[in-house]
Amino acid sequence: MERRTIGAGALAVGAVGLGCMPMSWAYSTSRQRGDESLRAVHRALDLGATLLDTADMYGPFTNELLLGRVLKERRSDAFVSTKVGLLVGEQHIVANGRPGYVRRACDASLRRLQTDVIDLYQLHRADPEVPVEETWGAMAELVRAGKVRALGFCAVGARGGRRSGNRLYDATIRQLQRIQQVFPVSAVEAELSVWSPEALDTLLPWCETRGIGFLAAMPLGNGFLTGTLTPGQGFERDDLRARHPRFTAEMMAANQPIVVGLRRVAARHGDHVTPAQVALAWTLAQGRHVVPVPGTKHERWVVENAAAARLRLSPQDLAEVARLPGAQGSWE
Ligand SMILES: NC(=O)c1ccc[n+]([C@@H]2O[C@H](COP(=O)([O-])OP(=O)(O)OC[C@H]3O[C@@H](n4cnc5c(N)ncnc54)[C@H](OP(=O)(O)O)[C@@H]3O)[C@@H](O)[C@H]2O)c1
Repeated sequence: MERRTIGAGALAVGAVGLGCMPMSWAYSTSRQRGDESLRAVHRALDLGATLLDTADMYGPFTNELLLGRVLKERRSDAFVSTKVGLLVGEQHIVANGRPGYVRRACDASLRRLQTDVIDLYQLHRADPEVPVEETWGAMAELVRAGKVRALGFCAVGARGGRRSGNRLYDATIRQLQRIQQVFPVSAVEAELSVWSPEALDTLLPWCETRGIGFLAAMPLGNGFLTGTLTPGQGFERDDLRARHPRFTAEMMAANQPIVVGLRRVAARHGDHVTPAQVALAWTLAQGRHVVPVPGTKHERWVVENAAAARLRLSPQDLAEVARLPGAQGSWE
């Protein structure tokens, strides 16, 4: 697989990564299967999709434990990215950016991942109660201690809509400018997909000009852009799509022209090419340091998604995707 570099240290990773979240979090738990997930992770590494994206809160903790079982056997094949700063409480998810907590959380992640170093340690959310420089400073100490190789910052949460996206990302850029004074940012993770392109306006250009890696979260639109979901199919209560405004039967039907457009582009590249692959190839085409992390717990989707790294969209394809209607259904 093509390799891409991220950050000042030019860390090399496969152009397409693997989002491990659906194996243990956010999508219906009744469909999670440990063995299938393990096969998916192994297959990703076999295919050169080296960036495994997890977080301590996925599960919580079980996603890191799962990856630990793979990393124990083949650490050198993987580039492991995990996150700190969010805690799953009884009622709510809460931020914790206190330095002492960050140090303890890192040691716990290292134990669960069965490794002695994390390749990319990301701040999942800045804690509004703690100056972000303090949290980032504690994370920088972990690099100096050899527990972490590079630092990343997550900016997920635009929640649909160009205006709210730009407001969020302008605030994100201000935070990034502050923490860059403390320690270099190697990667930013934010939503980027055909139906959520907000990061293209300011955040991605800011990262690209600095060689900062951009981990494209939710590049398949939580599965919608693959064309495998049917309007009105319904989602289990613990599936994030059960509450997502773009996944009501009405909005899924209204957004079908996006899938139809992706299918049309796919067809130009052969019968075997899928809308999911076009969606990923579009993401890859947005910048030299963009690494999509499609989430899946299925080996066959891993294979399909990894093959998207070989799909080259023409200027005509890209123009056609750009002309697709914007997504309907937002949190605003
Ligand atoms: N930093 C943050 O705050 C943050 C927030 C959100 C996400 N992320 C990261 O971004 C990653 C990706 O986001 P995501 O997983 O929510 O959304 P996504 O990648 O847009 O979509 C995942 C969904 O698509 C399905 N899928 C994957 N490949 C497919 C294919 N080729 N054909 C058909 N269906 C396919 C998956 O199904 P199955 O699961 O059934 O295989 C899953 O339901 C996460 O895993 C996580 O690592 C980070």
